[in-house]
Amino acid sequence: MSYTYDHGGNVFTVARQLGVLPEEITDFSASINPLGMSPLVKDALASALDSLVHYPDSSHRDLKLALARHHGLSPANLVIANGSTELIYHLPGVIHGKRALIVAPSFSEYVRSLNQHRWETRDFTLSPENSFDLDVDALERTLAEGFDALYLCNPGNPSGHLYPLDVIERIYRICTASGTFLILDEAFMDFCEEASAKQLIARGKNGIVLRSMTKFFGIPGLRLGYAIACDTLTERLDAMGGPWSVNTLALTAGVAALQDSEHIRQTSELIRQERNYLLDQLTAFPMLKAYPSSVNYLLVQITGGITAIELKERLVRQRILIRDCATFTGLTSGFFRIAVRTREENSRLVDCLANTLK
Ligand SMILES: Cc1ncc(COP(=O)(O)O)c(C=O)c1O
Repeated sequence: MSYTYDHGGNVFTVARQLGVLPEEITDFSASINPLGMSPLVKDALASALDSLVHYPDSSHRDLKLALARHHGLSPANLVIANGSTELIYHLPGVIHGKRALIVAPSFSEYVRSLNQHRWETRDFTLSPENSFDLDVDALERTLAEGFDALYLCNPGNPSGHLYPLDVIERIYRICTASGTFLILDEAFMDFCEEASAKQLIARGKNGIVLRSMTKFFGIPGLRLGYAIACDTLTERLDAMGGPWSVNTLALTAGVAALQDSEHIRQTSELIRQERNYLLDQLTAFPMLKAYPSSVNYLLVQITGGITAIELKERLVRQRILIRDCATFTGLTSGFFRIAVRTREENSRLVDCLANTLK
């Protein structure tokens, strides 16, 4: 199987190709908070500029304390990183073993990082026909064949499907019984925090929760992520990152972002409202089928003789970027993903879809 390096959010490249400014493109391909970063974060970043004459605080103390308070955890259960992608790349060097099972379709960096560490990987592929439902009995049978690690993204990306906490608890028990370490990627869990398995995983020794501050808090360019696990594992991962992989501005932004409860509330409310708006508007297109979602993106299937790549090319000419999903394991050229954005942007997308697909 070949994996191409393909992610959403390539606004700089696309802008260069179109000969326009990145600001002139509406990016539905990366699932980032459409409100942008909190004003508290902007102020904190401006105030932190003078402290750039020092090396960053390599203990990440303030951010660990703020996250511990936010999640009701101990700072010892946290490890901070240069985006959760940094942790994804360190994990195969820290977990014992050589065989990983990946619940697909999912984030392509799992496989790439495992390949770098010479792990063998296999996909446990969920199907759109079953709305990406996870058959836990079938997963248990597969794990019984002997896997050292299981990668599961919850809510799923690109599906948007949320697996409830009791399902994750069951999977965690199965993993523990079969000697499989659970890597639970909760990069988008801020949109449905009550379903997080953070407490369960922090209490145990057989799993890790990956979290990203990129998406909900709208700071992908700063690079900030973290993980939740038992203190032995967080210490080992801390040591992998080197002293200064997380810079002062990212650390400052993380603390300020968690302080802005109003921005957090507004974000959750806007996404809920606009996701419903988009789902409703998309029902008017007989050739489009949108899958239910708990997060700030929708997976959509297109039929009627046009592929998602063709649709993407037509929309790009109108300066709209979507993520075609043909490169995801288990999905075909008929799938694409759109971020949930502001009403103005969402209705422009709907208008452009109407013009393009008429
Ligand atoms: C499912 C998932 N996990 C992790 C990441 C990595 O996020 P970051 O490195 O920005 O924290 C992404 C980014 O798109 C993602 O989609």
